[in-house]
Amino acid sequence: MNDLFDSIAPPEQPRETIADGAYLLRGAALAFERDVLTGLDAVTARSPFRHMVTPGGFVMSVAMTNCGGAGWITDRSGHRYDAVDPESGQRWPPMPESFRGLAAAAAGAAGYLAFSPDARLINRYEPGARLSLHQDKNERDFERPIVSVSLGLPATFQFGGLRRKDPVRKYALRHGDVAVWGGPARLCYHGVAELKEGMHPALGGMRINLTFREAL
Ligand code: SIN
Ligand code: FE2
Repeated sequence: MNDLFDSIAPPEQPRETIADGAYLLRGAALAFERDVLTGLDAVTARSPFRHMVTPGGFVMSVAMTNCGGAGWITDRSGHRYDAVDPESGQRWPPMPESFRGLAAAAAGAAGYLAFSPDARLINRYEPGARLSLHQDKNERDFERPIVSVSLGLPATFQFGGLRRKDPVRKYALRHGDVAVWGGPARLCYHGVAELKEGMHPALGGMRINLTFREAL
């Protein structure tokens, strides 16, 4: 009886709470995988990944690009959103339609309705790349969520509290997982530990992270 019920029950969307307002949606991007990878190729053909420089003069180990209206950039003068890719001198490439659907579905599954991101930062991690603990603070509204999609090699996500010295928990993020944090968790410190070597069937030796935000 139980076996039969199990076999016909719809698959549950697993939602793991990592803090009040912060969730991990395991595998939530898998249904969008093919279209998202096609969209990613279209974006990087026009605005390739590049290693940006922090205001302190350090070259970031994570390579970045953007698509859509507002692109996140950093250079010696600070970090900010800009409609123009400083390398091409043109506007960032348009956001692929598949990105929009994925971002809205994931935000909704985490309980954040009517999510309409204008900023989509794309991060590329190669083995050895890491993102140190930080808050996302360049956006206008610190209640609206961040939707963060993991593709390719697995990574260790570090998620802390509202103060830098708060304890940090670690979560494995795998291909297709989506992290969403907003409301009381919106300004939590987070980062990504150094990426380990590996080979992913769809993306090879790298991890890609898509970060959606309502920035402006
Ligand atoms: C970020 O904090 O912007 C990226 C997080 C990630 O790569 O998972
Ligand atoms: Fe971040």
